[in-house]
Amino acid sequence: MPIHTPLCDLFGIKHPVLLAPMAGVSGGALAAEVSRAGGLGLIGGGYGDADWLEREFHTAGDAQVGVGFITWSLARQPNLLNLSLDRAPAAVMLSFGDFRPFLPRIRTRSTKLIVQVQTLGQARDAVEAGVDAIVAQGTEAGGHGGARSTLPVVPAVVDVANNIPVIAAGGVADGRGLAAALALGASGVLCGTAFFASDESLASDNAKRVAVSSSGGNTERSSVFDVARGLDWPSGWNLRTMRNAFTR
Ligand SMILES: Cc1cc2nc3c(=O)[nH]c(=O)nc-3n(C[C@H](O)[C@H](O)[C@H](O)COP(=O)(O)O)c2cc1C
Repeated sequence: MPIHTPLCDLFGIKHPVLLAPMAGVSGGALAAEVSRAGGLGLIGGGYGDADWLEREFHTAGDAQVGVGFITWSLARQPNLLNLSLDRAPAAVMLSFGDFRPFLPRIRTRSTKLIVQVQTLGQARDAVEAGVDAIVAQGTEAGGHGGARSTLPVVPAVVDVANNIPVIAAGGVADGRGLAAALALGASGVLCGTAFFASDESLASDNAKRVAVSSSGGNTERSSVFDVARGLDWPSGWNLRTMRNAFTR
C-alpha cells in the first residue's frame, strides 16, 4: 500500500516524493515523468530564461507539474512568475531569497507556494507568511544550500511549522531516506541528485556518467563554480558539486 501523508492530499499525489527544480537538469520531460509516476515534478526555472521555460512547460504537456525558481534571481525578472502562473502549475517553489514580494501574485491563483529553507529563521518567516509547504533542506543536498545537516534541521523546522507540511531535502535517495524523513516528522521528501542521471534529465551524458560512477564522498561545498560563472550569489549559500581538477 502506498504511503499516504498530508503532502499527498495537498498536491493530489500518490507518493510523497517531489522532484527538485534543478536548474539545467529538471526540464519538462523529467518533471512530467515524476508526476506521471505519482509524485510531483518541478521544472527548474533556474536563473531564468523565458524561452526555455515556455518550451519546458510545453514538453511537460498535460502532466500536472510545478516550477521552482532561485528567488534572488527571479526578483530580477519577475515576469517569469506570470509566465509560469499562466500555465497553472500545481506549485511554485521559491528558494534562496525573500519570497514574500511574490506571495500576493501567487495567491491570486490556485497554485500552491512551496518555500525551501535552510535555517530556522527562514522557516519562521515561511510559517508567518502562511506558505503551503516548507522544504527543510540540509547541507547534504546537491546544488546550492546552507550549513545545517538534514537530520537536525528537519525536526527543528517541523517543530515551528504548526500544521504546514514539511518536506525533507538533502541526501534522500531511496525508501530508507523517505522512511527516515517521515520519522523526523516530515510529510515527504524532495529529491534532486537521485534523479540527476535519469534518461529524462537534461544533464549532459558526460555529467551523468561521472555522477553514476562516483559517490557523495567525491563532492564538496564551495563557491568555485559561482565565481567562475560570474553569478553573484548572496552570502549564506554555496554549492555542492563533484570535487575535480577544476574545483581543486
Ligand atoms: C544539480 C542540482 C541543481 C539544483 N538546482 C536548484 C535550483 O535551481 N533551485 C533550487 O531551488 N534548488 C536546486 N537544487 C537543490 C534542490 O532543490 C534540493 O534541495 C536538493 O537537490 C536536495 O538534495 P539531494 O540532491 O541530495 O536530493 C539543485 C540540486 C542539484 C543536485
